[in-house]
Amino acid sequence: MDRHSPHDFTATWAQGVLGEVVVSAKEVHDRVGELGAQITRDYASSPPLLVGVLKGAINFMADLMRAIELPVEVDFMAVSSYGAATKTSGVVRIIKDLDVDLSGRDVLIVEDVVDSGLTLNYLRQYLGARSPASLEVCALLLKVGEQRVEQSLKYVGFSIPADFVVGYGLDVNERYRNLDAIYTYVGKA
Ligand code: IMP
Ligand code: MG
Repeated sequence: MDRHSPHDFTATWAQGVLGEVVVSAKEVHDRVGELGAQITRDYASSPPLLVGVLKGAINFMADLMRAIELPVEVDFMAVSSYGAATKTSGVVRIIKDLDVDLSGRDVLIVEDVVDSGLTLNYLRQYLGARSPASLEVCALLLKVGEQRVEQSLKYVGFSIPADFVVGYGLDVNERYRNLDAIYTYVGKA
């Protein structure tokens, strides 16, 4: 294993359940840098409050906030929409709410993936009711053609096919979040 180019090797411990690389570690890294630069420009006069959606957005949040050259603040929410299955239930449950007041804040929701869009739709209404000055979304992944509710996403990292994916924060049954690249999942759900 070449430790100097970790970008596309598949970890031996995860072989057998991972399919093809959907987004390589290098592509993720480069795109997150671009998003950070864009957010830096767009929010220069008013640094945003980044609201990460646990747990899937942890890797993305950690990299994105360091790519933004502004005094951003960071908070997290935890929601559950899936349980252990790989298809959305449409029901969103708040497991951890925010610790900060949103009124007058420029809020940027940081999401791992928008699939049906039901989770984001719910979050937008929930957070929008707390009088933020603005409320926008930065999603790393957008599954093409899957949205059941109209979404206006200010920032999208990558549009990807509708296959189930893991890695870079995305899990199946809590596993594979610690991979640097994003892969299709071909193991048993
Ligand atoms: P939505 O409500 O259908 O848009 O689903 C959004 C949430 O489901 C995301 O925040 C993820 O936590 C999870 N999810 C959707 N697609 C995937 C996937 O391909 N892999 C892992 N988690 C996913
Ligand atoms: Mg998520």
